[in-house]
Amino acid sequence: MYRTHTCGELRLENKGETITLSGWVQRARDMGGLTFVDLRDRYGITQLSFNMDTNSELCEQARKLGREFVIQATGEVVERESKNKQLPTGEVEVMVSDLKVLNASEVPPFTIEDETDGGEELRMKYRYLDLRRKPLRQNLELRHRLAIETRKYLDGQSFIEVETPYLIKSTPEGARDFVVPSRMHPGEFYALPQSPQTFKQILMVSGYDRYFQLVRCFRDEDLRADRQPEFSQIDCEMSFVDQDDVLNTFEGLTRHLFKEVKGVDLPEFPRMLYSDAMAKYGSDKPDIRFGMEFEDLTSVAKDKGFPVFDAAESVIGICAPGAASYSRKQLDALTSFVKKPQIGAKGLIYCKVNEDGSFKSSVDKFFDQNALREWSDILQAKPGDLMLVLAGETDKTRKQLNELRLEMGNQLGLRKTDEYQPLWVVDFPLLEWDEEGGRYHAMHHPFTSPKADQLGLLESDPGKVNANAYDLVINGVEIGGGSIRIHDQELQKKMFSLLGFSEEEAQKQFGFLLGAFQYGAPPHGGIAFGFDRLAAMFGGTDSIRDYIAFPKNNAGRDLMIDSPASVHPDQLDELGLNIVSE
Ligand code: AMO
Repeated sequence: MYRTHTCGELRLENKGETITLSGWVQRARDMGGLTFVDLRDRYGITQLSFNMDTNSELCEQARKLGREFVIQATGEVVERESKNKQLPTGEVEVMVSDLKVLNASEVPPFTIEDETDGGEELRMKYRYLDLRRKPLRQNLELRHRLAIETRKYLDGQSFIEVETPYLIKSTPEGARDFVVPSRMHPGEFYALPQSPQTFKQILMVSGYDRYFQLVRCFRDEDLRADRQPEFSQIDCEMSFVDQDDVLNTFEGLTRHLFKEVKGVDLPEFPRMLYSDAMAKYGSDKPDIRFGMEFEDLTSVAKDKGFPVFDAAESVIGICAPGAASYSRKQLDALTSFVKKPQIGAKGLIYCKVNEDGSFKSSVDKFFDQNALREWSDILQAKPGDLMLVLAGETDKTRKQLNELRLEMGNQLGLRKTDEYQPLWVVDFPLLEWDEEGGRYHAMHHPFTSPKADQLGLLESDPGKVNANAYDLVINGVEIGGGSIRIHDQELQKKMFSLLGFSEEEAQKQFGFLLGAFQYGAPPHGGIAFGFDRLAAMFGGTDSIRDYIAFPKNNAGRDLMIDSPASVHPDQLDELGLNIVSE
């Protein structure tokens, strides 16, 4: 038997017992007559002690143990003289009488401690060592808990988990596909799914009613902290439902997860129109933990002789509470912030409301106290507040001001990490115009249904049509998105044609779905949550990498297995992919 207990288990109650532990040497300390070894496994750390007086040979052996050696130790549980309150096992230690080295270890390239000295790249390369550290282990445990509770909840709601294939067919919509060459069909390719979207809809046609799957998705897109080329979704679909049914069911799932995994009772899930989200926050995923909503100042600021405002389509402001105390330096930093290329504003106009109610602005030359009072009336700015104003083309200005609002939220400590504010954003536009391609794209995907009362607009003004599409946003993070689908083959064909598919192309790409729709497709809809994002949110960060056991780096590489990598020319030959060089 390798062990009778784990390294996280022993307490004072075990005093006097002879036990055996197996694990990794965290560190060994030689204190002259005594040698202490911290032994670690998944469950915790237990102190082993070796006494030179009672067993010098064993003590010598212990002194030779290196970091990360795998050992087995048997001994008696004794009460510790100096107790360690930080450790659950800190009241006891094991007085070792038998020690076996099960495997030696090289000196690890970084310390396996909560706070490690290893850089990101090094830790990615030695991921197996990094995963030994408690913070990462806790992240994976959290992820596991979320998966278990998700399955429990959805099972309780009569959902059934069905697996869908990973080798599917490339489609031109959405992000880029990862493609997989077929050996048996040279020149032909599978694609890895960006999501199981069409399969889950087919399952509805097959009568499965309530489907879910914790599923891997693959997208060949640029990476960010919240994006990986392979990531997981809690993917769901339901039949005979309208939007409210889906939102209520997944509000239920979200509440369950927060309650069971985090002990948090979520507040109400308000619903906000996409158009309001864009007008009030300049974002389709607003962080509504704090106010600072946009106000349109165009009517009081334009045509007053200030060229920047006069040339602008919109002048939009926010009121930063209590920020009138900002110094010149801080204001300059804010100006530099909005002028960063990623944000792209030309400049920032500010106006402080002094304690005596007077105003001090960066445009005093053009706006007198009465004119500035009009701004403060609209923005409801009080003495001590700071009004921040951007101007330009409406959509661009909104996006820029969104960044500034979030930055001010951070600077003023308004984005509290222990507060969770969910929000449904609803009624997304059905289509978005792609300037470059000169055609419409589906804003969500081509299977999303238009609002029933706007079907007439599909021909005349498709850009104005809204969709039965919704996103779940928590604290400004898009956690999930979904829609009520088209289940009528004629409407689906019309949608493909709006997206620029010829009838032939639509048949070739999506004939199976159109075919299925000929055999009794029920009304249906669904949603998918980003599972990694959900885990990261529960862990209190927006970087999903540390919640994935073996992630890719920012360049899409797996540094541990060194992938992607070239393959042998023979393999390429076999796949019909060999490019003959001169
Ligand atoms: P969508 O494309 O909005 O919808 O994806 C759903 C959720 O998946 C997460 N997500 C990602 N997470 C990590 N890395 C990525 N690269 C990544 N891309 C997306 C986000 C997002 O909200 N089939 C539809 C769902 C439906 O209509 O039911 C879909 O995939 O949290």
